[in-house]
Amino acid sequence: VTGTTVPLAGVPLSLYVHVPWCLRKCPYCDFNSHAANRDAIPERAYVDALLRDFASEWPRLGDRSFVSVFIGGGTPSLFSPAAIGRLLEGIDRHVPLGADCEVTLEANPGTHEHGLFRAYRDAGVSRLSLGVQSLDDTMLGNLGRIHDGRQARAALAAALESGFDSVNVDLMFGLPGQSPAMARADLAGVLDFAPPHLSLYQLTLEPNTLFDHQPPAGLPDDDTLAMLQEQLVALLERGGYQRYEVSAYARPGMRCRHNLNYWEFGDYLGIGAGAHSKLSLDEDIVRYAKRRHPADYLATAGGSDAHSGWRRLAIGDRVAEFMLNALRLREGFPLACFEQRTGLPTTEVEMPLAQAVTRGLVELQDGWVVPTPRGFRFLNDLQLLFT
Ligand SMILES: C[S@@+](CC[C@H](N)C(=O)[O-])C[C@H]1O[C@@H](n2cnc3c(N)ncnc32)[C@H](O)[C@@H]1O
Ligand code: SF4
Repeated sequence: VTGTTVPLAGVPLSLYVHVPWCLRKCPYCDFNSHAANRDAIPERAYVDALLRDFASEWPRLGDRSFVSVFIGGGTPSLFSPAAIGRLLEGIDRHVPLGADCEVTLEANPGTHEHGLFRAYRDAGVSRLSLGVQSLDDTMLGNLGRIHDGRQARAALAAALESGFDSVNVDLMFGLPGQSPAMARADLAGVLDFAPPHLSLYQLTLEPNTLFDHQPPAGLPDDDTLAMLQEQLVALLERGGYQRYEVSAYARPGMRCRHNLNYWEFGDYLGIGAGAHSKLSLDEDIVRYAKRRHPADYLATAGGSDAHSGWRRLAIGDRVAEFMLNALRLREGFPLACFEQRTGLPTTEVEMPLAQAVTRGLVELQDGWVVPTPRGFRFLNDLQLLFT
C-alpha cells in the first residue's frame, strides 16, 4: 500500500437503529439481544435515548441524507407503532427521510397481532423483515423460537397484505434434526407466499451461544449441507429469485438497499445499544460503537462517553475490508466503486486481482470485478488474496 489517498466524497449513507430486547433468547443467537418481559422494556426511555444519540451525531453528517434506515435487533416489533413513528419523526426533523428512503423494520412472528404491521407502515416503515426461520413446529421448537409454524404463516400473510413496498423472510437451514427433504419443504412453503425478498442462512454455531456450549444433536454433515444448499438455490432460481449475495435472494427490482450499502462498503451511522458506525470523514474512514449493554446505553446515549471505541481504519485495512464485503456480491463491483469507497487507486489491488484472475476466481469485465462461480464457491480463498 502506497499510502496515497484521496478525499472520500459521495459515499452513500445508511442509518442503523438497534433494539436490544427479545421475549426470549434463542440458543443459536449471538446478536446483542437480552431477554425481557414486555412490561420490563423501557420503550419510551429508549426512544428518548435513541433521539439523544441521533441528535449528538447528526452534526457530523453535514448535508448528507440517508439512502436507507434499518431498525433491527433484537426484536424491534416489540416496540409499538407509535414509538417507531416517534423515532422516525425525530430523525426526520434533523435529516429529512426522502420518499425513496428504504425503511426496514425487523419483526418476529411471535409478536404479531392483528393490524400491527399496517400501523408500522402508517408510521413510515416501507419494508418488513420477518424472522420466520422455519415453518416446521418441531424445528422451531428445537431453535427455541417463541412462535410456531401457524403463527409464522399468519404473520407472513399479514405482512404481504399490509401494503409494504417489500417484505423479506429470514429462513434458516441445516437445523438440528432437519432432513434435506424437510428443508426443501420449508423453503417451498415460504415460496408459496411469493415474498419479494428472502434471506437464507445456514445455521452456524456462534461462539458464546448456548448451542456452542451444548451443540444440539442431529446437525447435518458438511457434504449434506453443500448438496442441500445447491438444491435450495436451484429451487429459488426456478421461483424467479436472483441470488445477488451469498445469502440474499430477490425478485427483480426488490434487492435490499440497506444491505447492498454494507456490501458496497458504503457508510452507516449506528444508533442504539452496541450499534456500530462506519463513516468516511474527509480523508479518514472511522469506526466506532455505542455502549453495548442496554442499561449503559440508556445512561450514556448522547453524552461524551457514549462511544465504546473510536478508530481510524488503517490504509492497509481498507482493501481487505472492502473486498470482504464487495466480493460477497454475485455480480461483483465496478473498480470505480473501489476507488470511491476506499479513497485508494486501483493500482493498489492490481497484483492480487491478477492472481485471482489466474486462479479462475474472478473475471474482469468492462471495469467490473466479477467473482466466477468457482470464486463465489471458494469465497474465503478469494477474499484472503486481499488481506
Ligand atoms: C438479528 S436476527 C433478527 C430477526 C428477529 N430477531 C428474529 O429472530 O425473528 C437476523 C437473522 O439472522 C439469522 N441468524 C441469527 N443467528 C443465526 C445463526 N447462528 N446462524 C444462522 N443464521 C442466524 C436469523 O435468520 C435471523 O432472523
Ligand atoms: S429473536 Fe432474533 S435477535 Fe432475538 S434472540 Fe432470537 S434470533 Fe436473536
